[in-house]
Amino acid sequence: VAMLVSPKPLSGKKVLVTAGGTVERIDPVRYITNDSSGKMGFAIAEAARDRGAEVTLICGRMEAEVPHGVKIVKVDSATSMYDAVMDRLANTDLVVKAAAVADYRPASQATHKMKKTSETFTLQLVRNPDILQAIGEWRVAQPDGAKPFIIGFAAETNDVEKHALDKLQRKKCDLIVANNVTEAGAGFGTETNIVSVYGPKGLVEQLPQMSKRAVAERLLEIAQAVIGEQNR
Ligand code: CTP
Ligand code: CA
Repeated sequence: VAMLVSPKPLSGKKVLVTAGGTVERIDPVRYITNDSSGKMGFAIAEAARDRGAEVTLICGRMEAEVPHGVKIVKVDSATSMYDAVMDRLANTDLVVKAAAVADYRPASQATHKMKKTSETFTLQLVRNPDILQAIGEWRVAQPDGAKPFIIGFAAETNDVEKHALDKLQRKKCDLIVANNVTEAGAGFGTETNIVSVYGPKGLVEQLPQMSKRAVAERLLEIAQAVIGEQNR
């Protein structure tokens, strides 16, 4: 009977998913982070796993329970997430960057808990590497420039389409999943999401409010279809 079952759509494929928020330490007891429950990335990891992919999930700070049946790599800062991702790119077919990466980190980290001494306090921040952009640039530099297929996210509060298309172009992704995080039923900590998927030619599909798992399934279907087109 097993031999009659058709192979799963992503069997033999290596999928890398990043999820959760990065943690940028100020001192041993304080940090800067971004809102992210990790749920959207986890749903994608689970959906890819169930489609037969070998999934590596690189996760920062998260609130949801990590999925089983996938390889978990825990990271803290954006720079550690950058290293974990770049190390694996050569061995990846599809990368999904659902993580909320802090754009800046403290210029230095105190080794001891900082004491309050002054009435005001200024923290100097420096830019973090843009991981998604680095993935796009890495791929362009490869001899065939074909792998991995790259899916990014864009969490916006306004002008969603404009910002999403700008990020797609700048970061050289294949697809950008955009949501308006101010909408009820979308974004941080919720069980559902409302997203629009954009490709280089503009809107690919606008999805209604769905469970994060259903969004993940549809997103992978779209990716598989686009990959199929590219290989024709
Ligand atoms: N991203 C990343 N590395 C960063 C910042 C963002 O890989 N240092 C990725 C996110 O994981 C997401 C996409 O880029 O897939 C878009 O993140 P977003 O914060 O919306 O875009 P930014 O380029 O940081 O632009 P801004 O925050 O100024 O809107
Ligand atoms: Ca950002």
